[in-house]
Amino acid sequence: MKKLLVIMVMLAVVFSAPVFAGGQQEKAEGDGQQMAKAIEVLHWWTSGGEAAALNVLKEKVEAEGIKWVDTPVAGGSGVQAMTVLRSRVTAGNPPAAVQMLGYDILDWAEMGVVANLNELAEEENWDAVIPDAIKKFSKYDGKWIAAPVNVHSENWVWANQKICDDLGIELPITTWEGYVDALQKVQDSGKVALAHGGQPWQTGTIFESVVLGVGGPEFYEKTMNVPMDQDALKSDQMLEAFKRMETLRGFVDDNFSGRDWNLASAMVIKGQAAFQMMGDFAKGEFLRADMVPGEDFFGFRTPGTKGSVTFNADQFVMFEKESQAKRNAQKVLAKNVMDPEFQVSFNVVKGSVPARTDVPDDEFTIIGKEAMKDLAQANDDGTLFGSLAHGHGAPSAIKEAVFDVVSAHFNGQYTAEEAVEALAKAVEAAK
Ligand code: BGC
Repeated sequence: MKKLLVIMVMLAVVFSAPVFAGGQQEKAEGDGQQMAKAIEVLHWWTSGGEAAALNVLKEKVEAEGIKWVDTPVAGGSGVQAMTVLRSRVTAGNPPAAVQMLGYDILDWAEMGVVANLNELAEEENWDAVIPDAIKKFSKYDGKWIAAPVNVHSENWVWANQKICDDLGIELPITTWEGYVDALQKVQDSGKVALAHGGQPWQTGTIFESVVLGVGGPEFYEKTMNVPMDQDALKSDQMLEAFKRMETLRGFVDDNFSGRDWNLASAMVIKGQAAFQMMGDFAKGEFLRADMVPGEDFFGFRTPGTKGSVTFNADQFVMFEKESQAKRNAQKVLAKNVMDPEFQVSFNVVKGSVPARTDVPDDEFTIIGKEAMKDLAQANDDGTLFGSLAHGHGAPSAIKEAVFDVVSAHFNGQYTAEEAVEALAKAVEAAK
């Protein structure tokens, strides 16, 4: 499948845009200083919190005199955005810049269609300020091919503080048993216990946190990060993870199917539901709704996962352009993405933490400060792992194979035992 895509992309490139096919660069206009008037950016930041964060970047780029041409493709975790990107590249008309995650970045780099950002990276010494775990996806063949803007982490539970206070639920909850008790209390009170949207990537996001909670860091790495160990995938711990998913399934409402993640966050914001298990982009929604962390809402690590962090970093990848003016505009975008002050102003809105390690945490909320500390600590302790559900555990084909099994099981199509078998098989077949 991937090979076919590579061939299609190569053909499209050769027939429609020979300027960047054979390395024959079009002559730069003027003296090379000319700046394109506009830059098209493809992204999936369409929820309230996401759009507010994106706006910080848009304003910064427009202040440099470059018009921002917005190409939003709604759909959490970028699944739909990547489909649109594939068709745009195949048609020989890639956007100038694209928000992208982990292994997708490396796949596009392998196809030879993304711009080399080395010159800027060297001028600004990106090597010294970006941690290795992220660099693994920002560099290909020793060259910088992406500008990382943030780090999200996925093993979080978001809670409505008032519902918890009213029901005497103490936060944070640190054990699975304590969590199930709390969910039960909420359900008994008539509210929705767990706000969830039954889209494969959302169920996948919960699943990987459950896997980490059941088996700990080593088990997570063996099952959710390539190369992925068949024995671990078929183990009793995996069976337990699927059983826990069945328990969680009992706490979602009847309308969970297909719901967008930010609508699930809205249920917690409005006090209709007590908890959501989601990456810290959900925090962006709570902050956008003027909720105060520690007063109106609370974020804590998925029970049993404290000390480990499952991460994903949003990065901007530039598609190779024939004109020097367009390349200059791409450079302006990349430079702004990497600006230390911008990484603060963007990430306090987005709910994530800066990709750069050299920025202060003063402007972040208590939860943001904790996230920065957790990240640094997990990095030192060797408990920082790529989120599978958000493109940092394995290439897309494997990620989607896991999503298929986990969703089918959540929707009642497999027993836990069948799901364990199906998961191991699906991963092997997708490799
Ligand atoms: C991205 C976030 C985004 C979330 C939901 C994640 O994969 O890293 O930036 O907010 O998906 O769309």
